[in-house]
Amino acid sequence: MVIAIDGPAGVGKSTIAKMIAQKGGLYYLNSGNFYRAVTLKHLQTGGDFNDREACIHTAQTADISIVDGHFLLDGQCVDDKLHNSGVDMNASRISCIPEVREAVNRRINAVCKGMDIICEGRDMTTVVFPDAEFKFYFDAEPEVRARRRYLQNPGEGTFEEVLRSIRERDENDRNKPVGALKIAPGAHIIDTSYLTITEVCEKVLSVVKAAKF
Ligand code: DC
Repeated sequence: MVIAIDGPAGVGKSTIAKMIAQKGGLYYLNSGNFYRAVTLKHLQTGGDFNDREACIHTAQTADISIVDGHFLLDGQCVDDKLHNSGVDMNASRISCIPEVREAVNRRINAVCKGMDIICEGRDMTTVVFPDAEFKFYFDAEPEVRARRRYLQNPGEGTFEEVLRSIRERDENDRNKPVGALKIAPGAHIIDTSYLTITEVCEKVLSVVKAAKF
């Protein structure tokens, strides 16, 4: 079984997907972390983000694996290095390159082969798992998403800076030549702006349970 969730940054996909994975005994896959790991490798090796071929090379050669839910890059756990403003902005840029997306998607497919999963990202419902049994699109107002990020990561800039970064990433996510963020046919749309985590979780579970359990 595949439950796939897409939506813009800060909409609550990871929190909800993790909860549902725990409740349903599903494997949780955060596809954004693959782009983040490629970005981290490019940063660590002093790569130029304007050099398309170098970005592709990094994506094709990065050794990314998941062990017990931890992200390993070239054998080292990088969980605590994937979320900072430098990785945020450059991951958004690097994920616009179609060949980088192909390399990441190959890895995702290899990791998930044969498993019951809940995955989240930008193109899970449209490109990577277009035949997922359950598709969701989460949305929320940019100001609400920026406020959540601002409160979650104090010290990562002012509210206005976080909002600007969210808007910039939205723009990148929606205008990628390949894997652009869009609503898949048949996706259940949930606006999380004024819902609690529990309420969003219940909405997702009500769809899944109605069909499955
Ligand atoms: O979900 P996130 O913010 O951790 O994702 C990090 C970056 O990767 C973000 O800029 C969007 C991009 N991404 C993507 O292009 N496709 C995905 N399936 C997941 C993430």
